[in-house]
Parts: sequence; structure tokens; C-alpha cells
Amino acid sequence: MKSFYNAEQVSAHVWWVGAVDWHVRNFHGYRTGRGSTYNAFLIVDDKITLVDTVKAGFESEMLERISTVVDPAKIDYIVSLHAEPDHSGGLPAAMAAIKPEKVFASAVGGKTLKAYYGIDAVPVQNSLALGQGTLTFVDTKMLHWPDSMMGFYDRDGVLFSQDAFGMHLAGSKLWADEYDESVRDSEMVKYFANIINNYSPRVLALLDAFPGLDLDVKVIAPDHGPLYRRDFERIFRMYRELAEQKPQLRAAVVFCTMWHATEQLARAFADGVRAAGVEVDLIDLAVSERSEVMTAVASSGIVAFGAPTMNNQVYPAMADVLTYVRGLKPRNKLGFAFGSCGWSGEGAKFIASEFEAMGMEQPCPMLQSRYKPSREELNAAFAAGGALAESLKERVAR
Ligand code: FEO
Repeated sequence: MKSFYNAEQVSAHVWWVGAVDWHVRNFHGYRTGRGSTYNAFLIVDDKITLVDTVKAGFESEMLERISTVVDPAKIDYIVSLHAEPDHSGGLPAAMAAIKPEKVFASAVGGKTLKAYYGIDAVPVQNSLALGQGTLTFVDTKMLHWPDSMMGFYDRDGVLFSQDAFGMHLAGSKLWADEYDESVRDSEMVKYFANIINNYSPRVLALLDAFPGLDLDVKVIAPDHGPLYRRDFERIFRMYRELAEQKPQLRAAVVFCTMWHATEQLARAFADGVRAAGVEVDLIDLAVSERSEVMTAVASSGIVAFGAPTMNNQVYPAMADVLTYVRGLKPRNKLGFAFGSCGWSGEGAKFIASEFEAMGMEQPCPMLQSRYKPSREELNAAFAAGGALAESLKERVAR
């Protein structure tokens, strides 16, 4: 059938039939500045199989793309590798159009699909025979939800990796090597920091186990962003480095401010870091949002957060960011808490206690000024920046 939505061929028997969300800018709180894609894949084997679907609202785009390859009614199986709604929201419409013989998911995925849509899925075993080829499943629990798994289609060597190795990047190209490398890498790093970082130990376990699985991978096909057809070692190396969270020679200084007092402390601290020869990012929460903060935190060995006190509480923007960052479990950071207050002084104390809860080492004591930092307090902030920078340099050199 002719359609203005076309499928794109991934390999001899696999087609991309997903959707491009050019204008999404808020992905459950993650600022997706370059949009995203919801990748679904069609395997044309004796059993025609749809792997994952798309976010609700993009079903007709997916079905039109499918119809340029086969009549959707001829699809036999739907396999849900990950039941989060960005990959399953289109499932009810797909079921209505396709009427598949069976829907497959992991055991947890089946419960999730039942809860969301009332759909009964068959729990997958280790593999699913499709005729000439087989889809083998790899348990990737918590990458990114408890139901998550990867699927490997041996006939063409396609690894459907769902969220892992993905990125939020809308575009008209299928392959990662068709995009500017710096754009691609920066979006992958941001995605890892904001979606995967807290599951770093599971990433390392997967990468360690991967050679033993003996999969002849020719394509890595994630559920977001472009696909990979080469340089797999580089991708695995990048993921390993991100998951190891070794200290990076960089500082993220994040602040919010009411009357510029906390800002002055932030600037003095940042300048102390800079004077010691360590690159620094100064981030004002009035003009930045939490996923940008987390990306900077994940890439930095020093994390300095500053906030004023408001109504006996930390300033709300900082509470939001701390909650978000803590959930993503950054490791191997040197922390520094600071802020300005008029009287009660809960702001910097709250940051210091959250850093402690995150297991963050805080070599310099919390710094809190009253109303407006004195020259001595600004000097102390500058000195703390220098001290943490020197400490970080020693750690990185070890
Ligand atoms: Fe892209 Fe965890 O969903």
C-alpha cells in the first residue's frame, strides 16, 4: 500500500516501523531538546512479528509504515520487550488492527500489560521460533523497568535492545553513523545519565556477560533514536565508562537564588575550581532544568549545590533537583553544600544531609552566609573550590 509513512529496511528481514516525535520536549520530566523516536520493528519470517509498538497517538503512523511492507492483518505475533507506555501505548490499537495469534512478553511484562490495557500476554521462554530465524531473549531486568528484556534475531544478527543504547533524538536518518558524532554522543550521555545511571551495576554485569552469550550482532536496534550497524566496541566502551562512574575532572556548580547572595557564593566557589585548573559548569536553576543538571552531575567529579532558605525550608527548586539526582544514584563525587539565609538556615543543611544520604564525600564543611556573604565568606567559598579541585585531581591521577 502507498503511504507517506514508509518503513525503513534494517536488514534482509527486519523493518523499522516506528514513529518520530519531533516536538516532544518533556519526557516524564526529562527535557528532550531534540525530540525522540519510538522504534518498533517488523520481522518478516514465517511468523511475521512486530517487536514493540509506539507511544499512544502514534499508532496510525506505525500501522501505515507496517502496511508498506505487509498487510498488518498478516502479523502473527507481537513481542513486547518493554511495557513502559512509550513502547506499549500503541498496543491496543495494534491489537485491534492486527488481531495477532499471540502477544509475548516477559512474566513481569505480562502483568504490566494486563494492568495497563487488560491484555493477556504469553510469558516468553528463552527463545521464540519464527520459522527461518529465532528470537532469543536476554533478561535485562531494570534496564529500564523490571519487565525489560532484549531480543536477538539470529537470522539477521539484529539485537533489539529496547531502552539500552538508546537516546532521545528525532531525525530523518535511521543509522547513528549518519548523525553528527558530537550530537549523537552528547544525547547518548544525557540519556544514560537520566534513564540508566541508577542501574549502572546492572549495565556492567550485562557487558561482562555479553561475550559469553556468543551473539553475532550485526545491528543494535534500540527503542529510541538511531540504530547502530558498526563501531559496537566503541558503544560498549562508552557504556562501560558511563556505568563505572569514575571521577571526571570537571565540576558542576548548581544554585538557585532569591537576592543573588547564594549566587555570589556559587560564583566564588566556581572561580576557585577554575583557578585550580579544573573545568566548571555554573548552572542556575532559574534557567536550567533537572535533566540538564543530572547530565552535568554525571559528568563531574565535583558536585556543589547551593540554595537559600525560604519559609524554614530549602528553596523548592533545589528540593526538586535533589530528589531527582538522588534517585539516579550518582557515585564517586566530592560534594559541597552552601547557601545564604536570613535567620533559620535550613537550605544548605538540607543539601548537606541529602549529599550524605547519597554517600557523597564532603571534604569541606557546609558554608552558609547570613543575608549577604561577607568578603571572608566569599574567600572561603573560593578556597573550598580550590581545595576540592586539588582533591579531585589527586583522585583522577590515582
Ligand atoms: Fe523508553 Fe523505559 O521506556
